[in-house]
Amino acid sequence: MHLLLVLPFVLEVQSRSTSHNFTSDCLYHVEIKAANCTSSNFTHLPVSVPPSTEQLDLSFNHLSAIRPRAFQTTRRLRVLLLNGNSISALADGAFLFLENLQRLDLSRNRISSLSGGFSLGLGSLRELSLAENKLSVMESDCFVHLDSLHKLNLSHNAIKTIKMRAFGSTSTLRQIQLDWNNITVLNNGIFSMLRNLEVLNLRHNQIHALDVGVLSPLTSLALLDLTNNNLSSIQFKTFLSLNTYSTHIMLQGNPWKCDCDLQRVFRKLCNVKRLFLDDYDSLNCSNLDEIHGYSMGFDTELCVAEMVTVLVITITVFITVVAAIVMAEKKRKKKIKEKHWTEVREASKADRSYY
Ligand SMILES: *[C@@H]1O[C@H](CO)[C@@H](O)[C@H](O)[C@H]1NC(C)=O
Repeated sequence: MHLLLVLPFVLEVQSRSTSHNFTSDCLYHVEIKAANCTSSNFTHLPVSVPPSTEQLDLSFNHLSAIRPRAFQTTRRLRVLLLNGNSISALADGAFLFLENLQRLDLSRNRISSLSGGFSLGLGSLRELSLAENKLSVMESDCFVHLDSLHKLNLSHNAIKTIKMRAFGSTSTLRQIQLDWNNITVLNNGIFSMLRNLEVLNLRHNQIHALDVGVLSPLTSLALLDLTNNNLSSIQFKTFLSLNTYSTHIMLQGNPWKCDCDLQRVFRKLCNVKRLFLDDYDSLNCSNLDEIHGYSMGFDTELCVAEMVTVLVITITVFITVVAAIVMAEKKRKKKIKEKHWTEVREASKADRSYY
């Protein structure tokens, strides 16, 4: 406290230069109100950060936890960089009072779980990175207080499960990076409130199935990146339900099981004017000879076998029906003939008995 009171004086004295050290490890740039404390072996937050600081760089230190209200003396922060520390716990209310904070970088830490409480008071935050942590489950409402969030980076975690309404209250989101995680299924409802989402990056997961309705809430989606997943087939309806103006869809690097059905799905998708399958010509078939570079784009033969089968069945049925009709006709004629002869025979018998 004593130091904070002295600080304005210190700033005055130093106003001729543009920067000074407020501890031996941090450099303060007066004009841009930026405190640079990167790579300084801090294990705890430095106590003497000037209250006027708007940008605080604490990246690549050894911080391990952020306690409640940890930044209450620096309430003017707009940018806070905590990437490259060892943070494993974020207390509820850790960022309380940072009502001006717009960018928070928590990437490259050891965060394994998030509760909604961590985001208390971060109503102005526009950009949050939690990339390169150890998250495995995104709980419901874990971003509940982030009313202005535009960009969310969750790439390089171990996310396997996204609970319903995990992004429930962040309808302002424009971009989500979920690449390099362990997601296997996209369940209905997980993207339910994201009507402003423009970019959904799901590269490098293990997604093998998408629920039919999972994409339908994404009415602003411009880019859906499903590159390098485990998709072998898809349903037409899943993508048709994307009610957007125009959406680019990336599907390369999946083990497509190319058969007539899949080809039909893709042919129909290509005909939907608002959908653009940008890498359609490079989709590889896992079940066909790759040596020949067999890709979905230029094949026309997948349905030939099916057409032949249909043709054979049709012809067989036709022949059977014709044969049955012919047989029936023959039988009928035979019966008539027999009947005729019986009558003739009976008539001649009657003649004889008459005489
Ligand atoms: C997300 O984080 C990853 C890993 O730190 C980084 O490589 C990537 O550029 C980030 N993406 C965006 C869009 O910021």
